Amino acid sequence: MAIPAVYIQELVARNDIYDVISRYVSLQRAGRLYKGLCPFHSERTPSFMVYPETQSYYCFGCGAGGDVIKFTMEMNSLSYIEAVRMLAQQCGMPMPDEDDGQARLKARILEMNKLAARYFHNCLKSDAGRDARKYLRDRQLSDKTIINFGLGYAPQGWQGLCDHLRAKGFTDNEIVTAYLGARNKKGGIYDIFRDRIMFPIIDLRGNVIAFGGRRMGDEGGPKYLNSGDTPVFKKSNGLFALNLAKKSGRDSFILAEGYMDVISLHQAGFSNAVATLGTALTQQQARLIGDYAKKVIICYDSDEAGQKATRRAMDIFSKEDITVQVLAMEGAKDPDEYIKKYGRQSFELLLEGANSALDFSLLKLKKQYDISNAEQRVEYLTKACDVLAGLTNPIQQDVYCSRLANETGTDKTSIKLQLERTAARRRRANNRKKEQELLHSGVGSKIKVDYRQKGNTMPKAYAQQQIICALVRDNSLYSSIAQRLQPENFTDGDMRRVYIRVCDMLENNIPATYTTLSGRISDSAANALAGIFARNADIIITGKDVQMHIENLLTAKLSQSEASEKTLDEMTERLKLLKEKKK
Ligand code: GTP
Ligand code: MN
Repeated sequence: MAIPAVYIQELVARNDIYDVISRYVSLQRAGRLYKGLCPFHSERTPSFMVYPETQSYYCFGCGAGGDVIKFTMEMNSLSYIEAVRMLAQQCGMPMPDEDDGQARLKARILEMNKLAARYFHNCLKSDAGRDARKYLRDRQLSDKTIINFGLGYAPQGWQGLCDHLRAKGFTDNEIVTAYLGARNKKGGIYDIFRDRIMFPIIDLRGNVIAFGGRRMGDEGGPKYLNSGDTPVFKKSNGLFALNLAKKSGRDSFILAEGYMDVISLHQAGFSNAVATLGTALTQQQARLIGDYAKKVIICYDSDEAGQKATRRAMDIFSKEDITVQVLAMEGAKDPDEYIKKYGRQSFELLLEGANSALDFSLLKLKKQYDISNAEQRVEYLTKACDVLAGLTNPIQQDVYCSRLANETGTDKTSIKLQLERTAARRRRANNRKKEQELLHSGVGSKIKVDYRQKGNTMPKAYAQQQIICALVRDNSLYSSIAQRLQPENFTDGDMRRVYIRVCDMLENNIPATYTTLSGRISDSAANALAGIFARNADIIITGKDVQMHIENLLTAKLSQSEASEKTLDEMTERLKLLKEKKK
């Protein structure tokens, strides 16, 4: 849906970027801008900047940047439209008319999914579902569980569901868009899910948004077949059984790997279990879990892959405001098997004894060393200090140092000393890394060679960025720039595309501000632009400067002998000096 530029401008004007961001991030004033800890990556010193003048933000640590809409999207995992709607609601603006077509299509897909779920469930109860019923019984699922999860059976054959949906008035195109049917070579359609146990995926409003289908035997394609993304479903956002876990009323969630694990857990009374949909955990899913729970206990499979996924998930959760624990499960490959083998009480005990994420890491580490051997003991302590150096809480550090001291019979003060050294080294490395990133992102990465003309040593990439920056800040520069520069003069792809967009907008009398632009350019260009604004926050670019940059762009010749790598700071400094000289 295209939203008119004037609407967006009004929306952004009514949602001041400082007001919006300060709801999520604690911001400190620093001159004309605000600083805070970046909400998009974990950091201990603030590199996240908010610029009221351009109404933009930029993080020098991770490169995230944009306007108030982009922030709302990223912060709440929303689409562009959803973010606009959220901001509109917050400032009491009515939405421009919804695109009826898209809204209608979504409603049609949800209707089809509901019919499909009912169809699958009825098939399970019919003669055709005899083997499926036996399969579920063999896996010890009760009738109550089957109903609770709305499980079903997609029968053999190629047309069952498609015919059913057609009879209800749905077109072939709609069925394909819902990921329930696929096109064959002749242009007809056939059922995607055949001879499978069907798991409906249900959102928080009770809509069936997708399906997972498990084959029953050893043959017949992949073990699980899941819906692809559709207008109502995004795999990377979805969680299986979130609708039930939310209703469980518990403030901790159990995160398992598979559909069957979740179903087993619920049947055993752990109604706070959820799973991702056959894909690795994403940041959005972690955030979603964090929205509903204070604690998450990761119960992945006990095999190598499961343990690897556990460490990944721990990393992802560490960026959210949630306590993480890890279940150490022995004697069974997954929670489903564990409960069947040892019973629900035994699993309850496991849950109670779940290790904190930190204990989990230390335990893993300890298993690799023989601490009765002096050399290995030192190695273990050094590595353990590496782990503890990541802690910000000094009390926690102290507790773990004591524990390590006891465990290895080592003096606690020497462990603390080592810990402090490690932490200091890490801080230095972090700072270096940040510098490097800055250098390699945006300006720095593109400046490998110097362009020289009449004593002017400003590199070409920099000239392009300054011109764009000045033009977007002050649209009245347009005619003087457009007279001299064609899009081809911009050798940087992002800058060229931005320039074309700006020209196009200004020619049509649409003001080109950061905000109106960012919805019309690629994410990478919007990000680059936010970075440019951030770096120029304290720099005034005059019409004269712009002419100098244009000159530079048009006439500069590559001089290999002058090749040098310039850091951003050097260039900013140089520009400042140049200006002071002029005064
Ligand atoms: P059972 O083997 O029936 O106990 O199921 P499970 O849920 O325990 O599955 P498993 O541990 O093998 O895999 C975990 C999850 O990964 C499943 O629930 C699926 O979501 C996903 N998955 C497993 N196999 C496949 C596959 O072949 N294709 C896809 N797309 N996903 C799969
Ligand atoms: Mn399993």
